[in-house]
Amino acid sequence: MEDIRISRRALMMGAGAVAAWSASPARALLAQATAALPASVEALIAQMTVEEKAGQLTLMAAAWAGGAANALNPISATATFDEQLAQVRSGRITGVFNGNGADMARRMQTAAMREQRLKIPLLFAADIIHGFRTVFPMPLAEAGSFDPDLAERTARVAAVEASAAGIDWTFAPMVDIARDQRWGRGIEGAGEDIMLGKAMADARVRGFQGRRGLGADDAVAACAKHFAAYGAGEAGLDYNTVDVSERTLREVYFPAFQTAFAAGAPTTMASFNELSGVPATANPWLLDTVLRKEWGFGGVVVSDYTGDEELIAHGFAADAREATKLAFLAGVDMSMQSGFYIKHLPDLVAKGEVPMARLDQAVRRVLAMKVLLGLFDDPFRRIDPRREKTRVRTPANLKLAREAGARSIVMLKNDGDLLPLPKAGKRIALIGPFVQGQRELIGTWNVYGSDAEAVDLLTGVRGAVADPALVTAVDGSGITDALPGGIDAAVLAAAAADIVVLAIGESQKMSGEAQSRVDIGIPQPQIDLAQAVLAVGKPTVVLLRNGRALVLEKPVLDAPAILVTWFLGSQSGPATADVLFGDVGPSARLPVSFPYSTGQEPYHYAHKNTGRPNPPGPLLEYKARYREGPNAALFAFGHGLTYGRIGYADLDTGGGRLAMDGSLMVRARVTNSGTRAATEVVQLYVQDVTASITRPVRELKGFRRVALKPGESQVVEFTLRAADLRFVGIDDKLTVEPGEFRVWIAPSAQAEGVNGRFVLA
Ligand code: NOJ
Repeated sequence: MEDIRISRRALMMGAGAVAAWSASPARALLAQATAALPASVEALIAQMTVEEKAGQLTLMAAAWAGGAANALNPISATATFDEQLAQVRSGRITGVFNGNGADMARRMQTAAMREQRLKIPLLFAADIIHGFRTVFPMPLAEAGSFDPDLAERTARVAAVEASAAGIDWTFAPMVDIARDQRWGRGIEGAGEDIMLGKAMADARVRGFQGRRGLGADDAVAACAKHFAAYGAGEAGLDYNTVDVSERTLREVYFPAFQTAFAAGAPTTMASFNELSGVPATANPWLLDTVLRKEWGFGGVVVSDYTGDEELIAHGFAADAREATKLAFLAGVDMSMQSGFYIKHLPDLVAKGEVPMARLDQAVRRVLAMKVLLGLFDDPFRRIDPRREKTRVRTPANLKLAREAGARSIVMLKNDGDLLPLPKAGKRIALIGPFVQGQRELIGTWNVYGSDAEAVDLLTGVRGAVADPALVTAVDGSGITDALPGGIDAAVLAAAAADIVVLAIGESQKMSGEAQSRVDIGIPQPQIDLAQAVLAVGKPTVVLLRNGRALVLEKPVLDAPAILVTWFLGSQSGPATADVLFGDVGPSARLPVSFPYSTGQEPYHYAHKNTGRPNPPGPLLEYKARYREGPNAALFAFGHGLTYGRIGYADLDTGGGRLAMDGSLMVRARVTNSGTRAATEVVQLYVQDVTASITRPVRELKGFRRVALKPGESQVVEFTLRAADLRFVGIDDKLTVEPGEFRVWIAPSAQAEGVNGRFVLA
């Protein structure tokens, strides 16, 4: 079973599992790259000056047309395009990122191939996070599909589109586990769970890189980022201090990276944060002891944007020269955007402070990657202005965006089966700041897509119903500010309608980099709008627009139906309409817990029990709970309803005894007693009841998307092995201990589903 297989393989990649790593595809890939490094490339290294070597380790934001990169990152060292061309000719840069297409790439590559002394091809990188010109749901939303195959397919299309514009390398997937919803960058990852994170990391790397090898003209190299524990910043503040135990690093934050490398990702990006006092960008334990020596990673480590420069602000390096030395010697092969390596490495090498062998090692890794990408064979293989126009936004790609969008929508509640809505005979009022206009559709971190090319809700709904004239739209409010007369207009529209669809939530600017929030609720003007609209008393569906888990309170919670619609990309409107009107049943699940209150953050389902858990039921004194509520989610990780009526029964734990070298089948009967088809995400959780290191109250160990026709019943089966029950022990190494386990087959991390016990002996 795919999910268990991923889990087991990734677990095996833990502490000391060098043997497992050696057998992994990434190892093979990189070993092969180095072994296959043509003799001419070795000869090239022998001919390179120290400056040319440092140039191979220097990556800069593209300057063409002002550069898209600067719109997404703080403006740092800037250059004109002509200055950048001069750097290419003199071999002072290895490539550029977030550039502007095939024409730019062709001009730069031509300069490199014709006018640079050694004619080393340039590398073009970009943040292809959730699509290129066809924009797919934001990665967090897509993770909610619990469908790695879907994630692989969208990443594949993103790579096919991006590669035609000359892009060789994507700064994705982001595989950071995000357990604090105040953090804005959770939107780029797969949420709070380790297993789901690994499954998505695996799928996305495979999708970006394709199945024909990195040399294929439609493959882009993946970069697992941000190494490591970037999502664990104190108080959910972006870039903030991280201080977690080695055990937590190994158990929570490392596995998705190990999975990405096992899937073949040849690069990783050092994170901005410090890790228990030592910035990741200059952390020899992280970048050398663990990554290189323990895991055998042979690929390229790139800094994040000015990450080496920031060692000064961290208070870790006195100046630029020292920052360069510390980052480079710790293991950062390539410097992004500060220009520090080209400025300072030559002198550091000349003075003997950086060994030439270390310089050659980093250069060899970068050239190996360029070889792998086929750039030495044909530096123009991905630069194709014709394909750049014809391969993008094809009907098939847009269809996939629509499918992915619909599969990412989570139905939180549906009282009285208000959904799906009828397509005919009803007047529908669409109300809220997200219902109309080419804005707030694709979400953050999209360099090449645009809201102007995306389809809004009004268009999607009008396209779905029998009589588009019965659909009205009114904003009612701005996102953070009230609109003069907005509520009055909204109330009038609601009063004149049979059904209200109220779209409220966060702007796309409220999540993403540097967009941490102190309050993860819906802005007050929209709450005021919701209050007034719900008071009209019409059947109302709330559509949430959000880049993270939200805190939902009254009056929003009083709405009979609530759908989480995130930022769904190019086909946002039609995808939402597909679910609203039942052409596609909702099947996604929450990849992050929705807490009762922001004050609970960081909240995640796999928390520990504590010595004083509050049993289910009333809040008790001197228990681990808040004055105002339980240590639980309002809508749990894994929660999501369907248009079916799903029941769980007949747990079978296969005799209840798992041998250390054996396997255990755990089964349950899942039945759809409703009148509509449904796809249920059946989840397997375990709890290690007693262990030498305390274990979470539940851990996801498997999931399956199961399609059930009305009245259909299926036995859903999971296989557990001892390796699935491993954890990082007292010595920070993987261990597995005999003993008793609880097991659930359930529809969410908080649902009881069917549950029982087994023994590992
Ligand atoms: C900074 C971000 O942290 C990183 O994820 C991104 O790849 C770079 N900027 C380049 O845009």
